[in-house]
Amino acid sequence: MTFRQEPNRQLDFISQSPESMHMVMLLYSPRGIPASYRTMQGFGVNTYKWVNAQGETVLVKYHWIPRQGVKSWTQADAAAVQAQDLGAHTKDLHDAIGRGEYPEWELRVQMMADGEHPELDFDPLDDTKVWPEELFEPKPVGRMVLERNVANVFAENEQMAFGTGVLVDGLDFSDDKMLVGRTFSYSDTQRHRVGPNYLQLPVNQAKNAAVATNQRDGIMTYAVDDGGDNPHVNYEPSITGGLAEASEPAHDEQGPVIEGRLTRARMPRTRDYAQAGERFRLSEEWERDDLVANLIDALGQCDRPIQERMVWHLLMVEDELGLRVGEGVGIGPDDVRHLEPLPTQTLDEEEQARLANLGTNGPRDVSGHVMTHCVPNERDARAEEPEYASAS
Ligand code: HEM
Repeated sequence: MTFRQEPNRQLDFISQSPESMHMVMLLYSPRGIPASYRTMQGFGVNTYKWVNAQGETVLVKYHWIPRQGVKSWTQADAAAVQAQDLGAHTKDLHDAIGRGEYPEWELRVQMMADGEHPELDFDPLDDTKVWPEELFEPKPVGRMVLERNVANVFAENEQMAFGTGVLVDGLDFSDDKMLVGRTFSYSDTQRHRVGPNYLQLPVNQAKNAAVATNQRDGIMTYAVDDGGDNPHVNYEPSITGGLAEASEPAHDEQGPVIEGRLTRARMPRTRDYAQAGERFRLSEEWERDDLVANLIDALGQCDRPIQERMVWHLLMVEDELGLRVGEGVGIGPDDVRHLEPLPTQTLDEEEQARLANLGTNGPRDVSGHVMTHCVPNERDARAEEPEYASAS
């Protein structure tokens, strides 16, 4: 190990993880380099559930849309700025808030009936997929405005604890496998990193509700759940007025009936190339150009077998992408046609057909298709600005 982020290591991993292709489209393109925090879109990745009082559930995905518009940098823009300016994004956000230009995001939510949805060609709980907007329209439900800078970075920033496991009433976890992992991991880490009573810190407390973790004592406790009439009772249940357990929800069951054996298995409907290809097609031309350039640059630093497997994947994603990146590293479809799918991969019929015609499949049809995060992206061009040009 060299303790550097090396393309050979990263793309070695990615080349053996075809489910990462969709992420590659975002990470290596300008969508992965926001021009500032204020112009950055956010999305939850994981799927949650909303539950009403009757126990009816829907699956939900969250999206944050910046009112400032979406703006990104190319690799050259980012390199030019970073050559001159340390912490440009922090400065931009801090200064804007200081000037009273408060950045604002609209919270939108996509909903889907709770269930397995065999009619979709992807698994709705697969974190590598997005839900098409023409089928699941994002609806505005709220907004977030950042209207003051922190007074003390340690107290209000370093000790912040965001996690997937802190829920309010009406929210529940879906069976999204990665959400389960994150939910244990974040809270465990925060109890270790900040302390067992991290939720009592002002920065982590809900503003309009008392902390009620049903947990007592531990380092830096300065409040306990003392909801009962009798402060001397620190156990439950009791007939003498201690803290009482919250009443059960009116409904005793929620969500759809599920039958089956719990197994340790790959999910079916992996479809690792379709949405990646659709995103490539729906990206703007300048975004595609930068994605291709960045992949050529990174792959150019990789061993030949990694380059070949990546060109194979990229051709499976979309002809234009695979051909352009392949040309950049000197590998064409005929050089990789012989590669078998990975041992962990099960290609469906459409994917097998693509493989048979590697490089000549024609562009994917994206007419009428609206992917989340495909709102217009404006380039905040810096590389050519005189202020930065001398450095790049
Ligand atoms: C969609 C996938 C994920 C995203 C986008 C994500 C994002 C993040 C971000 C932005 C941070 C904060 C980093 C910082 O403060 O500098 C973080 C921290 C962390 N992540 Fe993730 N993460 C993902 C998946 C996971 C998974 C699968 C696990 C473990 C099973 C995990 C465990 C953690 C832990 C333990 C922390 C530190 C929390 C803390 O100390 O407050 N993450 N993650």
